[in-house]
Amino acid sequence: MGGYHHRAGNPINLETARRALLVSRTLAILSAYVVGHFGMEERLMAESGYQHLASHRAEHESMRIQVENMVDQYNLIGLDPTTVMRVLKKWLIDHVQEQDRHLAQFLLTTCRLPDPQTFLDQNQVT
Ligand SMILES: [Fe+2]
Repeated sequence: MGGYHHRAGNPINLETARRALLVSRTLAILSAYVVGHFGMEERLMAESGYQHLASHRAEHESMRIQVENMVDQYNLIGLDPTTVMRVLKKWLIDHVQEQDRHLAQFLLTTCRLPDPQTFLDQNQVT
């Protein structure tokens, strides 16, 4: 009993628990993002005739695999938060600031967006 309280109050164990929770929550958010958001982007690209669909989709697939690998590693042996943050930072800088910005400019300038209500219905957005 006393040993339990000693361990529970140990700042190293508390920090370890906080890090595990951070990784777990971040991976849960990323897992949902690579399915939902990527899927929506890919449908938008297909419906608008975006010429860089294949390369953009390939980057999404690469990120999906990275997230799956991180989830597997977390479940098997644990994962340091810095690894997750490094991948996330690289993704935000490399993909979001370049590829997603390019797609957004294309959609805005070509005005070939799908009908908003049809798009919302097809993507089950409420
Ligand atoms: Fe994207």
